[in-house]
Amino acid sequence: MLKGKKIVLGVTGSIAAYKAALLVRLLVKEGAEVQVVMTPSAKEFITPLTLSTLSGKPVLCDFFNSGSGAWNSHVELGLWADAMIVAPATASTIGKMACGVADNLLVTTYLSMKAPVFIAPAMDLDMFAHPSTQRNLDVLRGYGNNIIEPAAGELASHLCGKGRMEEPDKIVALLKDFFLGSAELCGKKILVTAGPTYEKIDPVRFVGNYSSGKMGFAVAEECARRGADVTIIAGPVSVECDNPRIKRIDVESAREMYDAAMTEFPSCDAAVLSAAVADYRPAVQAGEKIKRKSESMVLELEANPDIAASLGAVKREGQRLVGFALETENGHENALGKLEKKNLDFIVLNSLKDEGAGFACDTNKVTVIDREGSCGYQLKSKKDVAKDIVSHLSKLLLLIVMFLLPFSAKAEGEELNATVTLNASKVQGTNTDVFKQLEESLNEFINNRKWTANTYEEEERIDCNFTFVVNSYANDGSFDCSLMVQATRPVFGSSYTSVLFKYEDKSIKFNYQPFDRLEFVEDNLDNNLTATIAFYVYTIIGMDLDAMGELGGSEFLNKAYTIAGNAQNLGDAGWRAGSSSNNRYTIIDDYMNGAMEPVRKMMYRYHRLGLDAMFKDADGGRKEITEGIRLLKKAYEDRPMAYFTKLFTEYKVDEIVNVYSKCTPEEKKSVVEILSSINPSLSGEWDKITKNNN
Ligand code: CTP
Repeated sequence: MLKGKKIVLGVTGSIAAYKAALLVRLLVKEGAEVQVVMTPSAKEFITPLTLSTLSGKPVLCDFFNSGSGAWNSHVELGLWADAMIVAPATASTIGKMACGVADNLLVTTYLSMKAPVFIAPAMDLDMFAHPSTQRNLDVLRGYGNNIIEPAAGELASHLCGKGRMEEPDKIVALLKDFFLGSAELCGKKILVTAGPTYEKIDPVRFVGNYSSGKMGFAVAEECARRGADVTIIAGPVSVECDNPRIKRIDVESAREMYDAAMTEFPSCDAAVLSAAVADYRPAVQAGEKIKRKSESMVLELEANPDIAASLGAVKREGQRLVGFALETENGHENALGKLEKKNLDFIVLNSLKDEGAGFACDTNKVTVIDREGSCGYQLKSKKDVAKDIVSHLSKLLLLIVMFLLPFSAKAEGEELNATVTLNASKVQGTNTDVFKQLEESLNEFINNRKWTANTYEEEERIDCNFTFVVNSYANDGSFDCSLMVQATRPVFGSSYTSVLFKYEDKSIKFNYQPFDRLEFVEDNLDNNLTATIAFYVYTIIGMDLDAMGELGGSEFLNKAYTIAGNAQNLGDAGWRAGSSSNNRYTIIDDYMNGAMEPVRKMMYRYHRLGLDAMFKDADGGRKEITEGIRLLKKAYEDRPMAYFTKLFTEYKVDEIVNVYSKCTPEEKKSVVEILSSINPSLSGEWDKITKNNN
């Protein structure tokens, strides 16, 4: 577990310094690389020679090497290490670390340390019990350091009590545990919301709350420590965070937080919603500072979106959602209500009535509540509370892995169930092997590549067909093909599938020789074939995520858009921007245009809220579909020349006719009106809705 880990061991001037020799030996035996840093007084207790011999590295003690004049860089050590242990740590060094008194190399190294720090105090019992030592240790705990509690027993002073440095084998075991923990969420993507939201009243005032964001950041750090890739969406907070595993999105208002959360959630395995989101915002935001006019004023507020409930509504099987409840009364009952209402997996309750719990403090006292029961915890630092919360979450996530693994051994990253067919009947008579080769290579290229960092279970994969028809082929390997791309998604709770995207790309020109490796490098497009395929794959994945969660596919749609932008240089007609023909570029350019946002929102309403709900509640689901179609109309009105609105109605026509087969004549009439205005060329088809008398 410690193999290859880089450990800085800080040794200070205590009788227990002799134990440092044993600690180095054990760490080296475990395969760790150890760099010892000593304080000047530590040299009185153990020689640098002993420690450098055991660690196999010169011991560092001074800022400069007196022989060569070289600078011993504490900054580099801070970046190099995977962990720092200070053992033994004297009261004096603990005090200096707590107060930032950087008068020796050990303390400067500590202050520069990016890795987790473990501190093993060693001192006389009264020194250890002294309030000043305890306060310093609390400060260090508050900074996120791990204090390895000293053991009780006979001390060097021959007195008996607590103060004896923990035994080296126990320290090594603890460190092993720590690194073991760090792997458990590897490959998981976790979303965290944190802090308050500010709702603007005018340019200088806002409605907000006292949330500091500390709890959310502690959860994010803990998830990252256990190997997860974390995205934190933070309201206005002063918390700093430079963990490379944590991507930070800063927002101000609830609506901004909502947009970011809806975009990020579909690609995550779990979300922890610790933000104190303002439930209401001013109905009007004044453009200029509101002047004092009368003795009272009324501020009208309107409701903000409930982020937790919205994520709960789109939560996929296997995704986990954790909420917080800060209550002043009836805590348990209210928390349980929120658990159900927001479709959470568990909720963390803290009561403002508990001293030391709540907003601005560094400690918290929580109860974790799920559908099976509850578990109360003592008052702890927020970092330790985060550990408890993440342990709960981790158990749930690992349970899913254990449950699903036997059925989905190859699940990771296989987003598509794609079938590529190549029809060369028009050009038969030439070298047929090349067609077979190309078909195989394309199947492999699409299905074996990891297009996203997400995990797709077998039943979540998007079915799609890429059908190439070769129009012309020359022996130099130049192809001109048409390509029909069609992607379908299952309709929840039924055996139906729904066409997600369908488009016939009339001409794609490329070069291919048998055994060419099909490769795609995002920012270096030099192959029109793979660029086109990658474009469609990202478009399909993005549209599928848009259908799963409102505007959920932005990450991949933007990739498709970037490809389309970069591919302009490839010179192929399909990519030409602004061309009057409806090509690949126009599709994505339409779809990602701001005016077409209603279309993107329609994808979610139509598929997730509409079609997926129909098997349970046909009328309710159909109403959502109608709302979706109204959004489509809005986009059409805002951008009448856009091609995508028309395309969508074309490939959905049969499905739509079917959806409205059983409804009232009024409903039929109103939807036919909308559809005919979006795509009048299909009026014959829309008429079928009215004529259908089921
Ligand atoms: N939450 C959210 N979006 C909101 C309000 C709350 O995501 N607009 C989340 C919080 O992050 C928290 C949970 O919902 O995880 C409960 O928040 P809380 O404010 O206690 O719940 P509310 O539903 O707002 O209920 P109330 O304020 O009436 O107690």
